[in-house]
Amino acid sequence: MFNIKKVIKARKRLNFITSTLFKLFQINLRYKEKRKDYGIELFEYFYLPWKVEEKFNNYFESIKYYTLNPKSRLFTIYEMSKRYLIPGTSYVEVGCWKGGVTGLVALENKHKEVDYFICDTFAGVVNSSQHDTFFKDTEYSNASIDDVKEVQNISSQQFNIIKGVFPESMEKINLDKPISFAHIDVDTYISAKESLEYILSNAIKGAVIILDDYGGWFTDGVTTYGNELKLNKHLFVVPNHLGQLIIYKI
Ligand SMILES: C[S@@+](CC[C@H](N)C(=O)[O-])C[C@H]1O[C@@H](n2cnc3c(N)ncnc32)[C@H](O)[C@@H]1O
Repeated sequence: MFNIKKVIKARKRLNFITSTLFKLFQINLRYKEKRKDYGIELFEYFYLPWKVEEKFNNYFESIKYYTLNPKSRLFTIYEMSKRYLIPGTSYVEVGCWKGGVTGLVALENKHKEVDYFICDTFAGVVNSSQHDTFFKDTEYSNASIDDVKEVQNISSQQFNIIKGVFPESMEKINLDKPISFAHIDVDTYISAKESLEYILSNAIKGAVIILDDYGGWFTDGVTTYGNELKLNKHLFVVPNHLGQLIIYKI
């Protein structure tokens, strides 16, 4: 079964399939990727707990029309929130779109007396720069405060809905409780950097921040920023290779 020659042969076949798939993507997009550190990889990883956990799947059914995130990433947020969202603290999501991620966190953590801050421009992506190959601003401008209010009703928790470009949008907002857990899903280098800096300066030691878009092809600016964070001595930073960078404030 574990014959090395067979393993090498199987990996060669997999490599052929993934590189063909990546070429097809590029043809479809009419874009030629020259960077060698981008591509498609089928990780030799087979554990998919999000397929079987009943409570998670029930929550997912109630918020699935309010999030763009795949189940695998939602499961990371759901699971980590149980341990790292501390009672009596604040939770922040920057780039909430229609609010499904915060809805999921609120459903799971009802008993914790958490202040929820759920932030978006509600006018789409901003701050695209030379770091971002694909995003040019205004993408995802189809979400509204009313969508987030629907999620608020589903989770029956009170949300502080913050409209505007984060972190300027927080200028007049006082956080009564420090942040212990946050989700950043903003697609561009500058927005990711400014969001994380605000969150870290208002967070407890041991806070966990999940940076979405890390490793995404279209969100390469966030990947660049995430790589810079790996050198930051105040943080412990781990990519989970599902498209999220897990950041722990030391
Ligand atoms: C991919 S969507 C977020 C998806 C969402 N988290 C979900 O689970 O469906 C990116 C969002 O980030 C928002 N955004 C980007 N930069 C922002 C910033 N600096 N301040 C506030 N919102 C921002 C955009 O308006 C957009 O709704």
